[in-house]
Amino acid sequence: MRGGRLAARHVARSEQVRGGRPAVSKQLAVRWPVIGAAERQAALGVLDSGILNGPSAPQVKGLEKEFAAFLGARFCLATNSGTAALHMALAAGGIGAGDEVITTAFSYVATPLAILYQSAVPVFVDIDQETFNIDPSLIEERITPRTRALLPVHIHGLPCDMDEINSIARRRGLLVIEDAAQAHGASYRGRPAGTLGAMAGFSLNATKNLPCGEGGLFVTNNETFLPVARRIRLHGIDAEEVPFDPTHPLDEEGEEKVTGMGWMYMPQELPAAIARAQLRRLVEFNENAAANAALLTSRLSGLPGVIPPSCPPDRTHIYHKYRVRLDPEAMGFSMPAAEMRDTVLTALRAEGVEATLWGAKPLPELELFRGLGHARGCAPRTSELLDCSLVVGSQSYPLFPQPRALMEQYADAFEKVVTNIAKRVDAVQR
Ligand SMILES: Cc1ncc(COP(=O)(O)O)c(C=O)c1O
Repeated sequence: MRGGRLAARHVARSEQVRGGRPAVSKQLAVRWPVIGAAERQAALGVLDSGILNGPSAPQVKGLEKEFAAFLGARFCLATNSGTAALHMALAAGGIGAGDEVITTAFSYVATPLAILYQSAVPVFVDIDQETFNIDPSLIEERITPRTRALLPVHIHGLPCDMDEINSIARRRGLLVIEDAAQAHGASYRGRPAGTLGAMAGFSLNATKNLPCGEGGLFVTNNETFLPVARRIRLHGIDAEEVPFDPTHPLDEEGEEKVTGMGWMYMPQELPAAIARAQLRRLVEFNENAAANAALLTSRLSGLPGVIPPSCPPDRTHIYHKYRVRLDPEAMGFSMPAAEMRDTVLTALRAEGVEATLWGAKPLPELELFRGLGHARGCAPRTSELLDCSLVVGSQSYPLFPQPRALMEQYADAFEKVVTNIAKRVDAVQR
Protein backbone atom coordinates (compact mmCIF):
# COMPACT_ATOMS: atom_id res chain seq x y z
CA MET A 1 0.00 0.00 0.00
CA ARG A 2 1.42 3.38 -0.98
CA GLY A 3 0.68 6.24 1.38
CA GLY A 4 -0.59 5.85 4.91
CA ARG A 5 -3.16 7.59 6.97
CA LEU A 6 -0.69 9.74 8.93
CA ALA A 7 1.45 10.58 5.96
CA ALA A 8 -1.57 11.63 3.93
CA ARG A 9 -2.86 13.85 6.71
CA HIS A 10 0.54 15.39 7.21
CA VAL A 11 0.95 16.28 3.56
CA ALA A 12 -2.54 17.60 3.12
CA ARG A 13 -2.58 19.68 6.28
CA SER A 14 0.92 21.03 6.54
CA GLU A 15 1.11 23.02 3.34
CA GLN A 16 0.02 23.17 -0.25
CA VAL A 17 0.97 19.99 -1.97
CA ARG A 18 3.98 21.39 -3.82
CA GLY A 19 4.41 24.43 -1.62
CA GLY A 20 4.64 27.92 -3.09
CA ARG A 21 1.77 30.27 -3.76
CA PRO A 22 -1.77 28.89 -3.62
CA ALA A 23 -3.17 28.30 -7.11
CA VAL A 24 -6.37 30.23 -6.45
CA SER A 25 -6.76 33.93 -5.85
CA LYS A 26 -9.71 34.33 -3.47
CA GLN A 27 -10.55 37.81 -4.78
CA LEU A 28 -12.11 36.33 -7.89
CA ALA A 29 -14.76 34.31 -6.03
CA VAL A 30 -18.32 35.70 -6.07
CA ARG A 31 -20.48 35.00 -3.03
CA TRP A 32 -24.01 33.65 -3.55
CA PRO A 33 -26.70 34.88 -3.67
CA VAL A 34 -25.87 37.87 -5.84
CA ILE A 35 -28.01 40.74 -4.58
CA GLY A 36 -28.09 43.68 -6.96
CA ALA A 37 -30.05 46.84 -7.67
CA ALA A 38 -33.07 44.88 -8.94
CA GLU A 39 -33.42 42.94 -5.66
CA ARG A 40 -33.01 46.14 -3.60
CA GLN A 41 -35.62 47.91 -5.68
CA ALA A 42 -37.98 44.94 -5.42
CA ALA A 43 -37.63 44.82 -1.61
CA LEU A 44 -38.16 48.57 -1.26
CA GLY A 45 -41.21 48.34 -3.50
CA VAL A 46 -42.75 45.83 -1.08
CA LEU A 47 -42.03 48.04 1.92
CA ASP A 48 -43.52 51.02 0.12
CA SER A 49 -46.64 49.02 -0.73
CA GLY A 50 -47.25 48.24 2.95
CA ILE A 51 -48.36 44.71 2.00
CA LEU A 52 -46.16 42.03 3.56
CA ASN A 53 -48.26 38.91 3.04
CA GLY A 54 -51.59 37.47 2.01
CA PRO A 55 -52.76 34.61 -0.20
CA SER A 56 -53.47 36.97 -3.10
CA ALA A 57 -50.78 39.56 -2.39
CA PRO A 58 -49.28 40.97 -5.59
CA GLN A 59 -45.65 39.75 -5.35
CA VAL A 60 -46.74 36.23 -4.45
CA LYS A 61 -49.24 36.16 -7.31
CA GLY A 62 -46.67 37.66 -9.70
CA LEU A 63 -44.07 35.04 -8.75
CA GLU A 64 -46.56 32.20 -9.21
CA LYS A 65 -47.59 33.45 -12.64
CA GLU A 66 -44.04 34.11 -13.82
CA PHE A 67 -42.62 30.80 -12.61
CA ALA A 68 -45.49 28.85 -14.17
CA ALA A 69 -44.84 30.70 -17.45
CA PHE A 70 -41.10 30.02 -17.16
CA LEU A 71 -41.76 26.28 -16.92
CA GLY A 72 -44.72 26.21 -19.27
CA ALA A 73 -46.79 24.74 -16.39
CA ARG A 74 -50.44 25.52 -15.76
CA PHE A 75 -50.33 26.20 -12.02
CA CYS A 76 -47.84 27.31 -9.40
CA LEU A 77 -48.30 28.09 -5.69
CA ALA A 78 -45.56 29.87 -3.77
CA THR A 79 -44.78 28.49 -0.30
CA ASN A 80 -42.49 29.26 2.62
CA SER A 81 -40.09 26.37 1.81
CA GLY A 82 -39.33 23.64 -0.67
CA THR A 83 -40.11 21.07 2.01
CA ALA A 84 -43.58 22.62 2.37
CA ALA A 85 -44.11 22.39 -1.40
CA LEU A 86 -43.17 18.69 -1.37
CA HIS A 87 -45.41 18.01 1.61
CA MET A 88 -48.30 19.82 -0.09
CA ALA A 89 -47.84 17.59 -3.14
CA LEU A 90 -47.83 14.40 -1.08
CA ALA A 91 -50.87 15.49 0.96
CA ALA A 92 -52.75 16.73 -2.13
CA GLY A 93 -51.98 13.38 -3.79
CA GLY A 94 -53.74 11.59 -0.93
CA ILE A 95 -50.64 9.91 0.49
CA GLY A 96 -51.52 8.87 4.03
CA ALA A 97 -50.56 6.85 7.08
CA GLY A 98 -48.69 3.64 6.28
CA ASP A 99 -48.47 4.31 2.54
CA GLU A 100 -45.05 3.69 1.05
CA VAL A 101 -43.33 6.28 -1.10
CA ILE A 102 -40.27 5.25 -3.08
CA THR A 103 -37.47 7.77 -3.20
CA THR A 104 -33.71 7.99 -3.67
CA ALA A 105 -31.06 7.18 -1.08
CA PHE A 106 -29.16 10.31 -2.18
CA SER A 107 -30.90 13.58 -1.39
CA TYR A 108 -31.28 16.17 1.31
CA VAL A 109 -33.16 14.86 4.37
CA ALA A 110 -36.12 17.15 3.55
CA THR A 111 -37.21 14.68 0.85
CA PRO A 112 -37.98 11.74 3.19
CA LEU A 113 -39.10 14.13 5.95
CA ALA A 114 -41.91 15.38 3.71
CA ILE A 115 -43.02 11.74 3.39
CA LEU A 116 -42.92 11.27 7.17
CA TYR A 117 -45.07 14.41 7.64
CA GLN A 118 -47.91 12.36 6.14
CA SER A 119 -47.12 9.40 8.44
CA ALA A 120 -46.13 7.59 5.26
CA VAL A 121 -43.01 5.44 4.92
CA PRO A 122 -40.01 6.40 2.78
CA VAL A 123 -38.61 3.43 0.88
CA PHE A 124 -35.09 4.10 -0.35
CA VAL A 125 -33.64 3.04 -3.68
CA ASP A 126 -29.97 3.22 -4.64
CA ILE A 127 -28.58 5.49 -7.34
CA ASP A 128 -27.21 5.17 -10.83
CA GLN A 129 -23.41 5.69 -10.52
CA GLU A 130 -23.19 7.99 -13.53
CA THR A 131 -26.10 10.39 -12.91
CA PHE A 132 -26.24 10.07 -9.08
CA ASN A 133 -30.06 9.95 -9.47
CA ILE A 134 -32.40 7.12 -8.44
CA ASP A 135 -31.74 4.06 -10.63
CA PRO A 136 -35.11 3.27 -12.28
CA SER A 137 -34.07 -0.36 -12.82
CA LEU A 138 -34.04 -0.87 -9.02
CA ILE A 139 -37.49 0.63 -8.38
CA GLU A 140 -39.78 -2.30 -9.19
CA GLU A 141 -38.18 -4.66 -6.68
CA ARG A 142 -39.13 -2.17 -3.94
CA ILE A 143 -42.80 -1.91 -4.93
CA THR A 144 -45.24 -3.59 -2.50
CA PRO A 145 -49.06 -3.52 -2.22
CA ARG A 146 -48.63 -0.45 0.03
CA THR A 147 -46.63 1.59 -2.48
CA ARG A 148 -48.54 4.68 -3.57
CA ALA A 149 -46.03 7.10 -5.08
CA LEU A 150 -42.58 7.67 -6.52
CA LEU A 151 -40.62 10.72 -5.40
CA PRO A 152 -37.56 11.06 -7.65
CA VAL A 153 -35.07 13.85 -6.92
CA HIS A 154 -33.20 15.68 -9.70
CA ILE A 155 -30.05 15.71 -7.64
CA HIS A 156 -27.47 18.46 -8.17
CA GLY A 157 -29.63 19.86 -11.00
CA LEU A 158 -29.60 16.88 -13.38
CA PRO A 159 -33.06 15.48 -14.23
CA CYS A 160 -33.80 11.82 -13.51
CA ASP A 161 -34.69 9.37 -16.26
CA MET A 162 -38.32 10.45 -16.09
CA ASP A 163 -39.68 8.46 -19.07
CA GLU A 164 -38.52 5.28 -17.37
CA ILE A 165 -39.91 6.40 -13.99
CA ASN A 166 -43.26 7.48 -15.47
CA SER A 167 -43.60 4.23 -17.36
CA ILE A 168 -43.15 2.21 -14.13
CA ALA A 169 -45.67 4.51 -12.42
CA ARG A 170 -48.22 4.06 -15.20
CA ARG A 171 -47.82 0.28 -15.20
CA ARG A 172 -48.10 0.03 -11.40
CA GLY A 173 -50.71 2.76 -10.83
CA LEU A 174 -48.45 5.11 -8.83
CA LEU A 175 -48.34 8.87 -8.45
CA VAL A 176 -45.12 10.66 -9.49
CA ILE A 177 -43.98 13.74 -7.57
CA GLU A 178 -40.73 15.42 -8.58
CA ASP A 179 -38.35 16.86 -6.03
CA ALA A 180 -37.03 19.65 -8.23
CA ALA A 181 -35.57 21.60 -5.29
CA GLN A 182 -32.16 21.70 -7.02
CA ALA A 183 -33.29 21.80 -10.66
CA HIS A 184 -34.83 25.16 -11.66
CA GLY A 185 -34.47 25.40 -15.42
CA ALA A 186 -32.99 21.93 -16.03
CA SER A 187 -34.66 19.89 -18.76
CA TYR A 188 -35.24 16.30 -19.84
CA ARG A 189 -35.88 15.46 -23.50
CA GLY A 190 -36.85 19.08 -24.13
CA ARG A 191 -39.25 19.33 -21.19
CA PRO A 192 -38.52 21.29 -17.99
CA ALA A 193 -37.92 19.57 -14.66
CA GLY A 194 -41.00 20.20 -12.56
CA THR A 195 -43.42 19.41 -15.40
CA LEU A 196 -42.49 15.74 -15.76
CA GLY A 197 -44.70 14.22 -13.05
CA ALA A 198 -48.09 14.91 -11.51
CA MET A 199 -46.73 17.58 -9.14
CA ALA A 200 -43.36 19.06 -8.18
CA GLY A 201 -41.70 20.98 -5.38
CA PHE A 202 -38.91 23.55 -5.87
CA SER A 203 -36.85 25.25 -3.15
CA LEU A 204 -36.03 28.97 -3.10
CA ASN A 205 -33.54 28.60 -0.27
CA ALA A 206 -30.63 31.08 -0.52
CA THR A 207 -28.23 28.38 -1.75
CA LYS A 208 -30.34 27.42 -4.76
CA ASN A 209 -29.92 28.56 -8.39
CA LEU A 210 -33.16 30.52 -7.83
CA PRO A 211 -32.80 31.99 -4.32
CA CYS A 212 -34.91 34.29 -2.15
CA GLY A 213 -33.82 33.40 1.41
CA GLU A 214 -36.33 30.72 2.37
CA GLY A 215 -39.25 29.78 0.13
CA GLY A 216 -40.60 27.21 -2.26
CA LEU A 217 -42.80 26.62 -5.29
CA PHE A 218 -45.44 23.92 -5.79
CA VAL A 219 -46.14 23.18 -9.47
CA THR A 220 -48.79 21.10 -11.22
CA ASN A 221 -50.72 20.89 -14.46
CA ASN A 222 -53.57 19.15 -12.68
CA GLU A 223 -56.61 21.22 -11.72
CA THR A 224 -57.80 18.69 -9.14
CA PHE A 225 -54.60 18.83 -7.09
CA LEU A 226 -54.43 22.64 -7.20
CA PRO A 227 -57.25 23.65 -4.79
CA VAL A 228 -56.32 20.84 -2.38
CA ALA A 229 -52.72 22.05 -2.29
CA ARG A 230 -53.95 25.63 -1.79
CA ARG A 231 -56.03 24.55 1.21
CA ILE A 232 -53.13 22.61 2.68
CA ARG A 233 -50.96 25.75 2.36
CA LEU A 234 -53.23 27.87 4.58
CA HIS A 235 -54.83 26.08 7.54
CA GLY A 236 -57.34 24.29 5.35
CA ILE A 237 -58.66 27.54 3.82
CA ASP A 238 -58.99 27.89 0.06
CA ALA A 239 -58.75 31.69 -0.14
CA GLU A 240 -58.66 31.78 -3.93
CA GLU A 241 -62.30 32.73 -4.54
CA VAL A 242 -62.21 36.21 -2.99
CA PRO A 243 -60.88 39.06 -5.20
CA PHE A 244 -57.79 40.78 -3.77
CA ASP A 245 -58.45 44.13 -2.09
CA PRO A 246 -55.18 46.05 -1.44
CA THR A 247 -56.84 48.06 1.32
CA HIS A 248 -57.79 44.82 3.13
CA PRO A 249 -55.03 42.42 2.03
CA LEU A 250 -55.63 39.82 4.74
CA ASP A 251 -59.40 39.86 5.00
CA GLU A 252 -59.98 37.03 2.58
CA GLU A 253 -58.86 34.52 5.23
CA GLY A 254 -61.59 33.24 7.52
CA GLU A 255 -62.16 30.15 9.61
CA GLU A 256 -65.57 29.67 8.10
CA LYS A 257 -63.76 28.78 4.85
CA VAL A 258 -61.87 25.85 6.40
CA THR A 259 -62.78 22.77 4.39
CA GLY A 260 -60.09 20.29 5.41
CA MET A 261 -56.76 19.73 7.05
CA GLY A 262 -54.07 22.35 6.47
CA TRP A 263 -50.70 23.68 7.61
CA MET A 264 -49.13 27.15 7.59
CA TYR A 265 -46.99 27.18 4.47
CA MET A 266 -47.75 30.70 3.24
CA PRO A 267 -45.08 32.68 1.39
CA GLN A 268 -44.33 36.36 2.05
CA GLU A 269 -44.08 39.43 -0.15
CA LEU A 270 -40.41 40.32 0.49
CA PRO A 271 -38.98 36.91 -0.48
CA ALA A 272 -41.45 36.65 -3.38
CA ALA A 273 -40.30 40.02 -4.76
CA ILE A 274 -36.65 38.96 -4.47
CA ALA A 275 -37.40 35.63 -6.17
CA ARG A 276 -39.06 37.49 -9.08
CA ALA A 277 -35.95 39.62 -9.54
CA GLN A 278 -33.75 36.49 -9.38
CA LEU A 279 -35.97 34.64 -11.86
CA ARG A 280 -35.07 37.25 -14.48
CA ARG A 281 -31.40 36.18 -14.12
CA LEU A 282 -31.91 32.44 -13.70
CA VAL A 283 -31.13 31.48 -17.29
CA GLU A 284 -28.00 33.64 -17.30
CA PHE A 285 -26.70 32.04 -14.07
CA ASN A 286 -27.62 28.53 -15.25
CA GLU A 287 -25.77 29.11 -18.52
CA ASN A 288 -22.76 30.42 -16.62
CA ALA A 289 -22.84 27.33 -14.37
CA ALA A 290 -22.90 25.09 -17.47
CA ALA A 291 -19.99 26.98 -19.08
CA ASN A 292 -17.97 26.77 -15.86
CA ALA A 293 -18.76 23.06 -15.59
CA ALA A 294 -17.71 22.51 -19.22
CA LEU A 295 -14.39 24.24 -18.57
CA LEU A 296 -13.71 22.20 -15.43
CA THR A 297 -14.76 18.98 -17.14
CA SER A 298 -12.48 19.54 -20.11
CA ARG A 299 -9.47 20.24 -17.89
CA LEU A 300 -10.12 17.69 -15.13
CA SER A 301 -10.97 14.76 -17.37
CA GLY A 302 -7.32 14.51 -18.44
CA LEU A 303 -6.09 14.05 -14.86
CA PRO A 304 -5.46 10.51 -13.60
CA GLY A 305 -8.12 9.38 -11.14
CA VAL A 306 -10.34 12.47 -11.48
CA ILE A 307 -13.78 11.73 -12.92
CA PRO A 308 -15.93 14.81 -13.64
CA PRO A 309 -19.75 14.53 -13.50
CA SER A 310 -21.54 13.41 -16.64
CA CYS A 311 -24.76 14.61 -18.24
CA PRO A 312 -26.63 12.30 -20.64
CA PRO A 313 -27.20 13.95 -24.05
CA ASP A 314 -31.01 14.01 -23.62
CA ARG A 315 -30.80 16.36 -20.59
CA THR A 316 -29.59 19.76 -19.51
CA HIS A 317 -27.83 20.09 -16.17
CA ILE A 318 -27.91 23.31 -14.13
CA TYR A 319 -24.93 22.28 -11.96
CA HIS A 320 -26.48 23.23 -8.66
CA LYS A 321 -23.56 21.14 -7.49
CA TYR A 322 -20.52 19.94 -9.47
CA ARG A 323 -19.46 16.60 -7.99
CA VAL A 324 -16.10 15.07 -8.89
CA ARG A 325 -15.30 11.42 -8.23
CA LEU A 326 -11.79 10.32 -7.30
CA ASP A 327 -10.26 6.96 -8.06
CA PRO A 328 -7.50 6.35 -5.47
CA GLU A 329 -5.87 3.54 -7.47
CA ALA A 330 -5.61 5.65 -10.61
CA MET A 331 -4.20 8.50 -8.53
CA GLY A 332 -1.43 6.25 -7.26
CA PHE A 333 -2.82 5.23 -3.87
CA SER A 334 -4.42 2.19 -2.42
CA MET A 335 -5.72 3.75 0.78
CA PRO A 336 -9.43 3.70 1.62
CA ALA A 337 -11.42 6.00 -0.67
CA ALA A 338 -12.78 8.27 2.08
CA GLU A 339 -9.29 8.92 3.43
CA MET A 340 -7.96 9.72 0.01
CA ARG A 341 -10.92 12.03 -0.59
CA ASP A 342 -10.25 13.89 2.68
CA THR A 343 -6.58 14.22 1.80
CA VAL A 344 -7.38 15.66 -1.64
CA LEU A 345 -10.06 17.93 -0.16
CA THR A 346 -7.65 19.37 2.39
CA ALA A 347 -4.97 19.88 -0.24
CA LEU A 348 -7.41 21.57 -2.64
CA ARG A 349 -8.59 23.88 0.14
CA ALA A 350 -4.99 24.75 0.96
CA GLU A 351 -4.69 25.81 -2.69
CA GLY A 352 -7.71 28.10 -2.23
CA VAL A 353 -10.31 25.91 -3.97
CA GLU A 354 -13.80 26.19 -2.54
CA ALA A 355 -14.59 22.49 -2.14
CA THR A 356 -17.02 20.66 0.14
CA LEU A 357 -18.58 17.32 0.99
CA TRP A 358 -22.32 17.60 0.53
CA GLY A 359 -24.15 14.59 1.93
CA ALA A 360 -21.82 12.59 4.14
CA LYS A 361 -24.06 9.50 4.32
CA PRO A 362 -26.80 7.87 2.27
CA LEU A 363 -30.19 8.92 3.75
CA PRO A 364 -31.07 5.37 4.89
CA GLU A 365 -27.96 5.39 7.11
CA LEU A 366 -29.22 8.36 9.15
CA GLU A 367 -30.25 7.64 12.73
CA LEU A 368 -33.75 8.89 11.93
CA PHE A 369 -34.41 5.93 9.62
CA ARG A 370 -32.99 3.24 11.87
CA GLY A 371 -36.43 1.81 12.45
CA LEU A 372 -37.06 1.13 8.77
CA GLY A 373 -36.64 -2.54 8.02
CA HIS A 374 -34.91 -2.10 4.69
CA ALA A 375 -32.76 0.94 5.44
CA ARG A 376 -29.28 -0.11 6.63
CA GLY A 377 -26.95 -1.04 3.81
CA CYS A 378 -29.61 -0.71 1.12
CA ALA A 379 -27.63 1.85 -0.88
CA PRO A 380 -24.06 0.61 -1.45
CA ARG A 381 -23.59 2.70 -4.58
CA THR A 382 -24.56 5.89 -2.74
CA SER A 383 -22.09 5.01 0.04
CA GLU A 384 -19.38 4.42 -2.52
CA LEU A 385 -20.11 7.69 -4.29
CA LEU A 386 -20.01 9.71 -1.08
CA ASP A 387 -16.77 8.05 0.02
CA CYS A 388 -14.95 8.80 -3.19
CA SER A 389 -16.25 12.20 -4.27
CA LEU A 390 -16.25 15.89 -3.40
CA VAL A 391 -18.12 18.94 -4.61
CA VAL A 392 -16.26 21.78 -6.32
CA GLY A 393 -17.89 24.98 -5.04
CA SER A 394 -19.92 25.39 -1.88
CA GLN A 395 -23.33 26.67 -0.84
CA SER A 396 -21.84 30.16 -0.44
CA TYR A 397 -19.61 29.99 -3.54
CA PRO A 398 -21.35 27.68 -6.06
CA LEU A 399 -20.44 27.54 -9.75
CA PHE A 400 -23.27 29.69 -11.14
CA PRO A 401 -21.94 33.23 -10.40
CA GLN A 402 -18.21 32.51 -10.79
CA PRO A 403 -15.98 33.96 -13.51
CA ARG A 404 -14.22 31.64 -15.94
CA ALA A 405 -10.79 32.78 -14.65
CA LEU A 406 -11.57 31.29 -11.23
CA MET A 407 -12.42 27.94 -12.86
CA GLU A 408 -9.05 27.98 -14.66
CA GLN A 409 -7.40 28.49 -11.27
CA TYR A 410 -9.45 25.66 -9.73
CA ALA A 411 -8.29 23.40 -12.58
CA ASP A 412 -4.67 24.53 -12.02
CA ALA A 413 -5.07 23.60 -8.35
CA PHE A 414 -6.41 20.14 -9.24
CA GLU A 415 -3.45 19.60 -11.57
CA LYS A 416 -1.01 20.64 -8.88
CA VAL A 417 -2.65 18.47 -6.21
CA VAL A 418 -3.17 15.39 -8.35
CA THR A 419 0.28 15.37 -9.90
CA ASN A 420 2.07 15.85 -6.59
CA ILE A 421 0.05 14.38 -3.79
CA ALA A 422 0.91 10.71 -4.31
CA LYS A 423 4.62 11.54 -4.54
CA ARG A 424 4.54 13.65 -1.39
CA VAL A 425 2.57 11.18 0.69
CA ASP A 426 5.00 8.50 -0.39
CA ALA A 427 8.04 10.63 0.52
CA VAL A 428 6.68 11.56 3.96
CA GLN A 429 5.89 7.93 4.67
CA ARG A 430 9.43 6.86 3.83
C1 LIG B 1 -33.12 17.84 -2.87
C2 LIG B 1 -33.80 18.76 -1.91
N1 LIG B 1 -35.07 18.51 -1.54
C3 LIG B 1 -35.74 19.31 -0.71
C4 LIG B 1 -35.16 20.44 -0.19
C5 LIG B 1 -35.93 21.27 0.77
O1 LIG B 1 -36.05 22.61 0.40
P1 LIG B 1 -36.16 23.73 1.54
O2 LIG B 1 -34.84 23.81 2.23
O3 LIG B 1 -36.47 24.97 0.75
O4 LIG B 1 -37.26 23.34 2.44
C6 LIG B 1 -33.85 20.77 -0.56
C7 LIG B 1 -33.18 21.99 -0.11
O5 LIG B 1 -32.56 22.19 0.83
C8 LIG B 1 -33.14 19.89 -1.42
O6 LIG B 1 -31.88 20.14 -1.77
